Amino acid sequence: MTDLQAGREWLSTLKGRHSVYHLGKADIKDEELTAYLKEIFSLVPSSFNARSQRILLLLGKESMLFWKDLVPIALEKNYEACPGEKEVLDRRRDLCESFSKGNGTILFFNDSKIGRALKSSFKEYAPSVDRFMAQEIGMDEYAMWLGLSKIGLGASLQHFLGLDTAVRAAYETDPDWILDAQMPFGSIEKAPEPKDTSHDPGHFRVVR
Ligand SMILES: Cc1cc2nc3c(=O)[nH]c(=O)nc-3n(C[C@H](O)[C@H](O)[C@H](O)COP(=O)(O)O)c2cc1C
Repeated sequence: MTDLQAGREWLSTLKGRHSVYHLGKADIKDEELTAYLKEIFSLVPSSFNARSQRILLLLGKESMLFWKDLVPIALEKNYEACPGEKEVLDRRRDLCESFSKGNGTILFFNDSKIGRALKSSFKEYAPSVDRFMAQEIGMDEYAMWLGLSKIGLGASLQHFLGLDTAVRAAYETDPDWILDAQMPFGSIEKAPEPKDTSHDPGHFRVVR
């Protein structure tokens, strides 16, 4: 039996997720949060069930140092190598400062070893493997984002560039782990602006 009412309730979870940039410290135990996020992680699917996704969860001081030291140093280096608008750099620095005040940060990776193994085991799908891996980690990101939102925490999905070497050095991550994104989270210190969710009617077609 279908249950549209349950579906509508689930939609409220989707509607509650936003990009939250102003973070503080939420009152939640690290152990409880870790167990919750681990369970979400274990439930996300992957192509061939190969589970290429990898997570590094930075909590408390580690997350603070990530946003106060590691990312700003990478920002400066990127700026030196490719100077852009100073205002953009300053905005990114302000974001880092805000993220450093949260409870933690999830770093999302794909394990490229898994990708190589899949390409050699499933030759006809080899051209699709990189796409599958990008989708898999995206599913983790969305599931964690929704999961954090559901328990009242704010988060955003970040793609700061040029962090790979520093992350490997700081946390001794496997060199085959490829960093995809960063998700700082914490209490919601400023309500997010509602975003336009409309689509051109032609973007969702029905044929029957
Ligand atoms: C694949 C993907 C990449 C994104 N990368 C970034 C990012 O690097 N920095 C950022 O601030 N927001 C990023 N976002 C967040 C979007 O800008 C945001 O989700 C969108 O504007 C809708 O706002 P909402 O999250 O509040 O619904 C990303 C979102 C997605 C789905």
